[in-house]
Amino acid sequence: MNDLDPLVAAASADFAAAPTPAELENAKARFLGKAGRVTELLKGLAALSPDEKKTRGAEINQTKQRIEAALSARRAALAEAELDAQLRAEALDVTLPGRQRGLGGLHPVSRTMERIEAIFGSMGFDVADGPEIETDWMSFTALNNPENHPARSMQDTFYVDMKDEGGRWYNLRPHTSPMQVRYARAHAARYAGVDPMPEIRVIAPGRTYRVDSDATHSPMFHQCEGLWIGENVSFKDLKVVFTEFCRKFFESEDLRLRFRPSFFPFTEPSAEIDIAFASGPLKGQWLEVAGSGQVHPNVVRNFGLDPERYIGFAFGMGPDRLAMLRYGVNDLRLFFENDLRFLRQFN
Ligand code: PHE
Repeated sequence: MNDLDPLVAAASADFAAAPTPAELENAKARFLGKAGRVTELLKGLAALSPDEKKTRGAEINQTKQRIEAALSARRAALAEAELDAQLRAEALDVTLPGRQRGLGGLHPVSRTMERIEAIFGSMGFDVADGPEIETDWMSFTALNNPENHPARSMQDTFYVDMKDEGGRWYNLRPHTSPMQVRYARAHAARYAGVDPMPEIRVIAPGRTYRVDSDATHSPMFHQCEGLWIGENVSFKDLKVVFTEFCRKFFESEDLRLRFRPSFFPFTEPSAEIDIAFASGPLKGQWLEVAGSGQVHPNVVRNFGLDPERYIGFAFGMGPDRLAMLRYGVNDLRLFFENDLRFLRQFN
């Protein structure tokens, strides 16, 4: 205890009262600064005798150290308070329930399309895409379906209130077959002068439209066209490729196929392709899955190719029907009603 204790107490009180580091530095200046109270005391030593200087000097130094200790303690306290405040401001309530993002899933028909693309892709087929609003020439005429020919009424087509250069109505494509023409013409143009032309091997999946609606028909449905043209492509190749595709698609080596004679204006000869499962609820029943045939010479000519030289086959299948068979769905309309209870089952 000495007469300097009150000074230490005053400094401690001042430091404690400083709410911020900046104000603490001001308080420090009042005691330890150049004109501060401790400095004043040290200056006062000059007037004392050597003996007095020694004792008084030691007292002042001790006082100075105690004030410095009080200052450091307050600095540390302020820094900690600041950190606390910052942590509190940035705090996360880890007990809150997470915000969920609804996870989307693929539609069963999209899954089927991807499966078709993967299998044909593995057999060297390109995948092409084309317009859903088509010209009359692409949907019909180029496919050997002459204007006013009765074969056009095989499809109840939607027409668009807009005419093409030839003065004929645009249509919502009733099949993906116009993609045969679009793809083959682009291919022939790209390889003009290349002899022999690289083979055309393509599938064209997409939406198609017809005036049709019941449990197995919808005005919008899907098709996947296939086309393979070269110098030496035969009906045998169609059988091999399509059989391979169906067996892979349905994961069944005992699946049977039947090529049933039929008619399409753009193929000759033509065949419907039926399949029969070796087991399961549909065992032994013939189910139609595609139309097919050797591409008609008039169509090959419309591809911009010489029908005396290039030959091949085309097919058009229904991915909706394939999805129904694969997943055991009995009403096509379920695919298009967007009922999540139905759709979730596929994800
Ligand atoms: N476009 C035909 C249809 O929609 C299917 C088909 C495609 C037939 C290619 C033969 C060749 O019914």
